Amino acid sequence: MGDNETPMLELVDVHKSFGDVDVLKGISASISKGELLTFVGPSGCGKTTLLRIIGGFTSITSGKIILDGEDIAALPPNMRDTKMVFQSYALFPHMNVRKNIGFGLKLQKMPQKKIDDRVDELLALVHMEGLGDRRIERISGGQQQRVALARSLALEPKVLLLDEPLSNLDANLRVVMRDEIRNIQERIGITTIFVTHDQYEAMSISDRILVLHDGVIQQIGSPSDIYETPENMFIAEFVGYVNFLEGKIESFDQDSGVFRVSTEYGDLSLNRGNEQNLEKGDDVFLVIRPETVTLFPSDAEDLPNMLTGKIRHSMYAGNLVKYTIRCGDREILIDQYNPKDSIKFRSGDTIKFTIPRTVHALPKKAEN
Ligand SMILES: Nc1ncnc2c1ncn2[C@@H]1O[C@H](COP(=O)(O)OP(=O)(O)OP(=O)(O)O)[C@@H](O)[C@H]1O
Ligand SMILES: [Mg+2]
Repeated sequence: MGDNETPMLELVDVHKSFGDVDVLKGISASISKGELLTFVGPSGCGKTTLLRIIGGFTSITSGKIILDGEDIAALPPNMRDTKMVFQSYALFPHMNVRKNIGFGLKLQKMPQKKIDDRVDELLALVHMEGLGDRRIERISGGQQQRVALARSLALEPKVLLLDEPLSNLDANLRVVMRDEIRNIQERIGITTIFVTHDQYEAMSISDRILVLHDGVIQQIGSPSDIYETPENMFIAEFVGYVNFLEGKIESFDQDSGVFRVSTEYGDLSLNRGNEQNLEKGDDVFLVIRPETVTLFPSDAEDLPNMLTGKIRHSMYAGNLVKYTIRCGDREILIDQYNPKDSIKFRSGDTIKFTIPRTVHALPKKAEN
C-alpha cells in the first residue's frame, strides 16, 4: 500500500437499475490512495446513486466495488471502511459538538480518555477548538459542516464520501469551506470522493474529475485535461464557455506535427496535440475558449491564424472585458484580461483576432 499503482478503490462495470430504469450503465474507474476524485454532472445523472453504492446505502445491480483489494459490494455500510457525509449532515441536534464527533468511537467502545484525545485532535483539525461543548443547534452552517467532516474522519475510514457537502452554504462560505476540505484532505492524505454539480467547484478541488452524464462516464481526467482537451462536445460545454468553430482537416504535416483546418472564415494551422485519431478530410469542431483568443485593431499587420470580425457588444467586468464578436454569420465570445493595459474596442469596431495553434479539435461525428 502507499504507492499509486495499487488503487484504493476500484469500480468495475457497475450497473444500477431502479425498476426498469437504468441509472448507472457500466461505470469503471479506479481511485488511487490519497486522491481526491470528484463526480460531476447534471442533476439526475447518477452521482449520488454511485456514491451511495460505494458507501453501501444503495444496492448494486451488477459489477464490483473493490476497496483496498477486497470486493465490498455485498457488505452493509457499517462493515465497509468508507464514511459518507450526507448533504444534510445528519448530525444529532440534541448532542453537543464533542459528542457528535466522538459518537462512532463510543459505539466502538473506545475508552473515554482516548475518545477525548481523538476528539481534541479532530476539533483542532477542523478549527473548532473551544466550541466542543456547544449544542449543534447553536453553531452556524459552516461549523456544522466542519463537525460532520470531523465525525466522519473520527474512525479513520479508507475512503471519505462527500455528497454535495457545500450546497447548504452561502457563496462566500462555500469557497472557504471548499479550500478547507481540500487542505484537510491533503494534510491527512485521505482518499476522497467529492460530489458536486458545480463544475468550477470540481475544477478547483480535484486531483481528477469524473464527468457523468446519463449514467455513463464521459471522461475521467485532471481538471486541465477536462478543460483543455475535452473528449466530446458535452464535456466542452459543461466546463466553462466554449466557442465551437466548424472546419475540415485539409492536410497533416508529419514533420512539424501541424495540421491545416479550413473554416468558413479562413484557414488555420494548428498543432497536433491529442488529435492523433483525426485524419485528413475529417470534419471537426474546434474548441475555442474565450480567454485564448487575442484581439487586434483592424490595421494590425497580418499574423498566422488571424481572422476578421466586428465588435457587437462589450461588457466591462474589471479584471476582464467580455467581447461579443460578429464573424461571418456567427458570434464568438472573447475574454480580454487586464483591460487597463489593453486597447479598448467599441461596438461597431472592425477588429482582427488570432486563434491559438493549440486549439483542440473534436471529430464531428454523429455521437457529438
Ligand atoms: N430510490 C430511487 N428509486 C428510483 N429512482 C431513483 C432512486 N434514487 C435515484 N433515482 C433516480 O436515479 C437517477 C439518478 O439520481 P441521483 O440522485 O443519483 O442523481 P444526481 O446525479 O445525484 O442528481 P442531483 O445533482 O440532482 O443530486 C434519477 O433519475 C433519480 O430520479
Ligand atoms: Mg445528488
